[in-house]
Formats: sequence, structure tokens, C-alpha cells
Amino acid sequence: MEGANPQILKMAAEIIHDQDRRATTTVCVTGASGYVASWLVKCLLNQGYIVHATVRDPENEAKVRHLLDIPRDEETLKLFRAELSEDGSFDAAVAGCAGVFHVASPTEFAPKDPENDVIKPAVEGTLNVLQSCTKAKTVKRVVVTSSAAAIAMKESEDQNQYMDESCWTDVDFVRTKMSNSSWAYTVSKTLAEQAALQYGKEHDLDVVTIIPVIVVGSSITPTIPISVQLALSLLTGIPSDLQVLKELQLPSGALSLVHVDDLCKAHIFLMENPSTEGRYICNATDIPVAQLAHYLSKRYPEYNVPTQFEDVPVISKLNPSSKKLVESGFSFKLGLDEIFDDAVKYLKMKGMLN
Ligand SMILES: NC(=O)c1ccc[n+]([C@@H]2O[C@H](COP(=O)([O-])OP(=O)(O)OC[C@H]3O[C@@H](n4cnc5c(N)ncnc54)[C@H](OP(=O)(O)O)[C@@H]3O)[C@@H](O)[C@H]2O)c1
Repeated sequence: MEGANPQILKMAAEIIHDQDRRATTTVCVTGASGYVASWLVKCLLNQGYIVHATVRDPENEAKVRHLLDIPRDEETLKLFRAELSEDGSFDAAVAGCAGVFHVASPTEFAPKDPENDVIKPAVEGTLNVLQSCTKAKTVKRVVVTSSAAAIAMKESEDQNQYMDESCWTDVDFVRTKMSNSSWAYTVSKTLAEQAALQYGKEHDLDVVTIIPVIVVGSSITPTIPISVQLALSLLTGIPSDLQVLKELQLPSGALSLVHVDDLCKAHIFLMENPSTEGRYICNATDIPVAQLAHYLSKRYPEYNVPTQFEDVPVISKLNPSSKKLVESGFSFKLGLDEIFDDAVKYLKMKGMLN
């Protein structure tokens, strides 16, 4: 191509190379019917990957239709049945994959039997998935989705101005002192992440973990994700959701938010960058509830947003920091405006907002 800009030609060649590489790369996503994982499947298919998606019941049309409706080449998405509590359940889905995104985890906040409904399946399920990776012998990297719940809960706050990847939730403290019903989820995410990193070390499996804060934005799931409902509770006015939102800011003094699209791109970034290692906090922005209320009342004056909050801190204390992720080369594309504009549009589409 005579006269063409060599820089642009080089970039075009790199893009074609990336597309070719991805088109021959098969990855597995666990818990694919869920909020984060279904968006991740959409991003991966969009980028040309071949995806093995695990769901609990591939025959349940209502739980998988949103996955089957993702525009794609016919052969690029395959659904597999897998259950966290069953040994060997992930073997078939992981076989032949170069990468595995382990996203599935029980997300029930008020389980009847916390140990057996949440903690055990999260921890043993993670080990199950990792054992399938070892058996497969093709897996080069596993990205495990943890949670800010795994870094934020402890008795003392004698730390710096931010929480980084050295912070771990104190499981004994949570088990004995945390009074709200989400304690089991907090314990499950902490123990599952620790088990994943330990397994990686002991079995020479390349495991990195990603630690999302509250995930907001749009969704392709048939039901509205809980994290979106909570984050939008200042607009929907649902008192129980608003109460939980206020509780969510207690550990750090602020709500930490990330757009689902940025979170999924960060998962893929970690999969594609072999030099990354260990844990990565994924947090786009922090804002205390009281400030968020003022922001939302200005941005969406059509809703009756309460702005008086004497019962919550007005300044943030310890924010989860994404410095490590950003210094590794990842950049967040979506801030508070996009997070809420997309979520509001989505809730309007679902009829939850006028
Ligand atoms: N959303 C957030 O704000 C947020 C924040 C931090 C971390 N995270 C983490 O991100 C991941 C995804 O969360 P999400 O918000 O997308 O939640 P979600 O929509 O509830 O998705 C959870 C997924 O895990 C699957 N799952 C649960 N128990 C299972 C089991 N026993 N066997 C097999 N699959 C099972 C669910 O399957 P079914 O559909 O069949 O129930 C679902 O597909 C989780 O690891 C969560 O801890 C989320």
C-alpha cells in the first residue's frame, strides 16, 4: 500500500494478529448465566475468542437465553453443565482451554445454611475448577473473581489512606463480630481467594485474582443484578436497598464502584498479560453515599433523590486502590457518569425506573 502511514499499517497488522490469535484461543467462563460472567462472555465473543461457558442447567431456557442471544459466529459459544459442589464437574468445560475465568460463586446474602449454601461451595468449588485446570494440561492462566469483601473487613483501621492488595479480611473477626447477614459471603470470598492463590503456588498453576468493588452499569441478564439495584436505590427509593447501600460504605467510608464493562475488560487484560501476578483490585471510583445523593439529584432531577444523610460518614477513609492494575497497563474507560447513565437507561428499559 504505497503512501500509507507505516504507523497505521503496523497498528492494523497488530490488530489482525490479535484477532487471529483470539480466534484460535478457547477460554472457559464459569457461572456464565450471572451478571458479570454473561457480560464477560459477551466481551470475549466480541473480541473473537471461543468460549466454553458453564451454567448449572443448560436446558433451562430462562437462565441461558441471554447467552444464546449474544451475536456471534455459531461455533464460538458452547454451554456446559457444571456445579461447584460436584467433583470433576468442570472437567469437560475446561478441557482444551488456554485460559479459565472462574467467576461463579454463591452470591446469596441471607442463606438458610451459610456454611453449606455459601462458604463450602465457594471454596470447594474454586478448588474443583482449579483441579480441572491441572487435569486439562492446556490451561496457561486462570483469572479468579474475588471481591472487595475479601480485603475490607477487619477490626482495626491502622493502615494508610487506601487499601491495597496486601489487605485481607479477618475471617475470625467476621465470623464472630459481623452482625449483618452478608457475613457468610464475606467469609466465602476471602477463603476462596486464599485457596485459589495457595493452590496456584502448590500446583504450579498460574492463578491471578481480580477484586471487584460494587459492579454497576447495564446487564444482559433476565433479572436485575442485586449490585445494580443497590447502587440505584437512591433513585428507585426502595428503603431496604438503600439501607444495604449505606451499610456497604461502612468499611471504607465511601462506595467504591466499577462499570461492568471495565471490570470485564480488566479480566481479559489480566488473562492476556502474563507478566501480571497475584491480586488486582478493580475500582474505578469512590464516593460517599451523601455525595452520591447530591450528584444523582443534580444529574437526574426528574427523580426524588433524598439528600439528607446524618447517619452515614461524609468523607471516605480507606479506599481500595487500583494502582497496581493501572501501573500494569490497564486503563479504566468509564467513570461515574457512564456507570449511572448506563444503569439508569437499563432500569428504565426493565421498567424499574420511569
Ligand atoms: N456484582 C458485584 O457487585 C460484585 C462485586 C464484587 C465481586 N463480585 C463477584 O463477581 C462474581 C459474579 O457475581 P455476579 O454479581 O455476577 O453474581 P451472580 O449474577 O449472582 O452470578 C453468580 C453466578 O455463580 C453461579 N453459581 C452460584 N452458585 C453456584 C454453584 N453452586 N454451582 C455453579 N454455579 C453457581 C450462578 O449460577 P445460577 O445463575 O445458576 O445461580 C451465577 O451464574 C462473583 O464471584 C462475585 O462474588 C460481584
